[in-house]
Amino acid sequence: MPKKIILAIVGVFLIIQLIPVDRNNPPVSEEWNPDREIKQIIQKSCYDCHSNKTKWPWYSYVAPVSWLVAHDVKEGREELNFTEMDRYSERRFKRKLRHALEEVYEKEMPLPIYVLMHPEAKVTDEEFTKLKNYLEKEYKIEWSPENEDHEEE
Ligand code: HEC
Repeated sequence: MPKKIILAIVGVFLIIQLIPVDRNNPPVSEEWNPDREIKQIIQKSCYDCHSNKTKWPWYSYVAPVSWLVAHDVKEGREELNFTEMDRYSERRFKRKLRHALEEVYEKEMPLPIYVLMHPEAKVTDEEFTKLKNYLEKEYKIEWSPENEDHEEE
């Protein structure tokens, strides 16, 4: 590649680093507090995008990847935030939890691209069963692959 083009690419890369990225962690208003074991699973697998306690990884400081990470966190928090429980009625939260089981079962959550960077965030079959049993017991959420529904919200 001609030197000029390489310099131009490096220049653009450096310049885009100056675009501000919102990596804010807003205050926690009310945190979900399930059993310790359940909370640990949710913390390691979901908190980076579904809480106000995001651990921003090093690559969230490097544009353009940082834009994608910030976007996922923003959207994730909007959809479901385990540290802003005051946003939900019990009924609404139960619907979210039910949907969460389905998403985890279908390996859509945590986001596959995130699992690639954070293998430990993967929800194992054993963890899924624990989660499912807990939600059944504490929240009377009955869910199985056969009765899945695809309703939004
Ligand atoms: C890397 C970020 C990321 C992680 C980690 C993550 N999510 Fe998400 N989640 C998102 C984004 C972004 C959306 C909204 C867009 C979409 O649905 O794909 C979302 C949407 C959802 C929804 C839909 C919300 C609704 O209204 O029903 C549920 C449920 C959900 N996630 C559950 C989870 C659970 C449970 C975990 C952990 C096991 C998890 N997510 C981990 C980013 C993430």
